Amino acid sequence: MITVTLLVENTARGAGILGEHGLAWWIDTGTHRVLFDTGQGMALRPNAQALGVDLARADAIVLSHGHFDHVGGLEAVLAVARSATLYLHPRAVEKKYSGSNPAAGARCISVPFVETERFRREGRRVIVASEPGEVVPGVWVTGEIPRTNDFEDTGGPFFLDAALKQPDPLLDDQAIYFRTCDGVVVVLGCAHAGVINTLERIAGLTGGAAIHTVVGGMHLENASPRRMTATLAALRRLGVKRMSPVHCTGWAATAAIQREFPERCFRCAASTVLTFAEPPVAPPVG
Ligand SMILES: [Fe+2]
Ligand SMILES: [Fe+2]
Repeated sequence: MITVTLLVENTARGAGILGEHGLAWWIDTGTHRVLFDTGQGMALRPNAQALGVDLARADAIVLSHGHFDHVGGLEAVLAVARSATLYLHPRAVEKKYSGSNPAAGARCISVPFVETERFRREGRRVIVASEPGEVVPGVWVTGEIPRTNDFEDTGGPFFLDAALKQPDPLLDDQAIYFRTCDGVVVVLGCAHAGVINTLERIAGLTGGAAIHTVVGGMHLENASPRRMTATLAALRRLGVKRMSPVHCTGWAATAAIQREFPERCFRCAASTVLTFAEPPVAPPVG
């Protein structure tokens, strides 16, 4: 049994569970545990404690990208998860800015403390890679996601400089996936690479295995009608059976997905636990 617990999300369910604009997932395969993102930093530890998740037992911490709402809790979790390997894309440590409110100027949306060399000096195993990789047995990170279609973009006015001149292509954006007996399960951070680019990348990496479940942020808040139409058509073409758009997906986009796939959508909030049966073990050859 593989369980996925939503530790941090914009919304929360249950007494004592905190909501915050951010995302953090706990994936437990039965033998290993992965923390995918860390939220902004306020909700992660109290929610983990309330939900009986021992962050100290993490074998791997994976960052989806360098935005504060995914990385803000990193320092605190590194302090308790002493033996966890940290996985990130090389560009997740870049300074990142939002220009969503031009009148207010640039807003820094990265965090100052993602210092891979310092983490290494402190004895941490840190894997900085843009390639796909198996972070614990059976659980994979996509690495950098090629932008292959013409209808998706990063989903916002993101920049690499405070002058808001150099667009941030958010090449650091990556997702998690693993196989179950029903098909592949995909866990997204913000999907700045585009949810369909992400799913098509995973289809390529798995030899075209059916994608059963997709959960996470889809960053469709600013999506054009053309992008929404193409996204819905691609979700149908890819045959995704279950989906839960959360976090940065955007209210209108979430409603559009729900309208298009009323039977396939389900709601997730901080405290949600999803369970999946593992794929059957292949018989020995010979
Ligand atoms: Fe983001
Ligand atoms: Fe986000």
